[in-house]
Amino acid sequence: ARHGSGHHGLPVPTVIAHRGASGYRPEHTIGSYRLALDMGAHVIEQDLVPTKDGHLVCRHENDITGTTDVASRPEFASRRTTKSVDGAGITGWFTEDFTLAELKTLRAKERIPASRQENTVYDGRWTIPTFEEVLRWADAEGRRRGRPVWLHAETKHPTYFRGIGLGLEERLAKLLRRYGRHRAHSPVFLQSFEPSSIQRLAKLVDSPRVVLLSGANTRPWDFVQAGDPRTVADLVTPRGLEWIASFAQGIGPTLDLIVPRDASGGLGTPTTLVRDAHARGLILHPYTMRNENSFLPADFRRGTDPNAYGDVFGAFKVYFEQGIDGIFTD
Ligand code: G3P
Ligand code: CA
Repeated sequence: ARHGSGHHGLPVPTVIAHRGASGYRPEHTIGSYRLALDMGAHVIEQDLVPTKDGHLVCRHENDITGTTDVASRPEFASRRTTKSVDGAGITGWFTEDFTLAELKTLRAKERIPASRQENTVYDGRWTIPTFEEVLRWADAEGRRRGRPVWLHAETKHPTYFRGIGLGLEERLAKLLRRYGRHRAHSPVFLQSFEPSSIQRLAKLVDSPRVVLLSGANTRPWDFVQAGDPRTVADLVTPRGLEWIASFAQGIGPTLDLIVPRDASGGLGTPTTLVRDAHARGLILHPYTMRNENSFLPADFRRGTDPNAYGDVFGAFKVYFEQGIDGIFTD
């Protein structure tokens, strides 16, 4: 492990538990977060969306059809609806149509039972956590374990939610102020795919540690809405990185932006992204290492034995050799 001032005292590479230990427990539950700490993760990730009454809850998207039991609850049958979220038509049940009290009656379940069948034994065990609960939980765990429990919270669909009067950044900043996020027990990274959300957070939060995420084939939705013609390809150029470094401390690129796939789907030639970002003082937290990554050998996959993961560091060696600072992993 390396340690450096840009890494806030965290070991490098920093292990960021993606939605908690989501390879082993239903994602974004206290169970998946706690197991991640037990497994040695340095940082626990939350994706944040709002409820109708303005609370921030930990879900990867506002559509909760696939990660809760809402579809089997007759009292909520009439809430099923179709919406356009960031330009995509989606039919299901959405967090912003439920109060927190209503959402708390739901139970979390495994998102991908077909490939993570063994996790379904935990379906129904946990409720949807609020970010406020996670802040309190992380403080308590930090004290109990005698080490900081870092969090890594992402604003999901921030322009969409601002448009319906449920802006995420002010709510998030208020919670961070209330819980004194820069105390020893549970410091927080903040992340988003939308640069305007990161810029807003950087202004609202004291001593921000903000990370701009980038997918390989997407355009930030705030750019689309504002008519900004830049694409992700523009953002990962030296000039784009220079711009990002003017308001962020790091980037969270998809793994493919660091080592693209070759024509046969295997690993191709590394790009200069790690070097170019480091040259501008940006740390890199790419995503996502999981046993479902398509380029992994078949025998890497877990099967039915929860301890039979392959050699993670070996399988993803090429990324670590590039000098990434941390990794989102399931
Ligand atoms: O936030 C890092 C990574 O989680 C981004 O992808 O879609 O899993 O939120 P997603
Ligand atoms: Ca995320």
